[in-house]
Amino acid sequence: MTATIDIIAGARPNFMKIAPIIRAMEARMAAGAPLAYRLVHTGQHYDSKMSGDFFTQLGIPEPHRNLEVGSGTQAEQTGAIMTRYEALLLESRSALCLVVGDVTSTMACAIAAQKLCVPVAHVEAGIRSGDWTMPEEINRMVTDSITNLFFTTSEVANQNLRRSGVTDDRIHFVGNTMIDTLLANKHRFAKPPFWSELGLEAGEYFVTTLHRPANVDRGSTFAELLQAIAESVRGMKVVFPVHPRTAKTMREVGAVPSNVLLVDPQPYLEFNYLVKHAKGVITDSGGITEETTVMGVPCMTLRTSTERPETVTMGTNELLGVDPKALKPALDRLFAGQWKRGQIPPLWDGKTGERIVAILEERFAH
Ligand code: UD1
Repeated sequence: MTATIDIIAGARPNFMKIAPIIRAMEARMAAGAPLAYRLVHTGQHYDSKMSGDFFTQLGIPEPHRNLEVGSGTQAEQTGAIMTRYEALLLESRSALCLVVGDVTSTMACAIAAQKLCVPVAHVEAGIRSGDWTMPEEINRMVTDSITNLFFTTSEVANQNLRRSGVTDDRIHFVGNTMIDTLLANKHRFAKPPFWSELGLEAGEYFVTTLHRPANVDRGSTFAELLQAIAESVRGMKVVFPVHPRTAKTMREVGAVPSNVLLVDPQPYLEFNYLVKHAKGVITDSGGITEETTVMGVPCMTLRTSTERPETVTMGTNELLGVDPKALKPALDRLFAGQWKRGQIPPLWDGKTGERIVAILEERFAH
């Protein structure tokens, strides 16, 4: 009998993580494996710039169902996703609910599924920042506490899960699906249309992304950070694709330093072209620190903790904290040619999607 697996995606960082799983699943289905999937988009991100462009560029098929939850507070989004996904499961049950990452959609669908006794698989399970002020940390902890099948990206994640009582037979160390997408698409990275207009040259500019509430929700904090970035890059340009949350505060910031160039959120291929050719990246994202590690691009993270410690211990990432004063000494080291080169963590090899699907196939064969 064919097992139908729900694949859940809701927000931008989910899309790169599901693409290789879907590709691997379609390959096995074409070879006659008794697997099927239903792609459920919760609608947490809904703009073409935050969602649609990623589907097009990464060849992700049209979702079978869009729950269209849209914006809201944490609880509003969680409640709306749970209610609508529960209705879908009651209408048509799946054999497994597969969630990825740590966004609100991940947690909300895991809860709705498990309460209807639909088992949950979590891709990127077990990572922890220890920072309970981040909604993503709550999402990770809740999701992992009701997950049946754990797919992990690192040995640290395996240890975190074991420490919380998860037995080894439920933990599958498979690697990183986000890196599958990076490696599969690196030959297609595309120069953004504004490249010449902004006078960009490879190795001569920085890329910045900031969207964490702690950094961007207060105009004064955000303005200080922008100023410190602009002053520490020795006159180089800083390309800043502005997340919608950040755009709201941008209005309170007043004048943006002249070497900080604001652009819209970029599609996947253009964003990674910018990163690959940058002198360095200054960010508060988690996922980007994994991509810079694999591309060997120096990365400075404006956070006090990370759920992805291997990007620091093995990769090119360094945690600077949230004090803007930390930027200048770090950038001085970079300009002095003293930034670490880094290594690629185990199993971040482009084959994670296939490993996940092989394990799912094996599970449903029994
Ligand atoms: C979410 C994720 C975060 C991820 C980030 C990447 C959670 C808790 N957080 O944060 O882990 O790193 O996405 O983007 O799930 N908005 C738009 N257009 C859109 C989507 C959102 O304008 O397509 C606006 C919303 O109206 C809202 C703001 O952007 O005001 C933030 O969106 P939201 O989904 O609440 O969370 P993010 O901050 O994007």
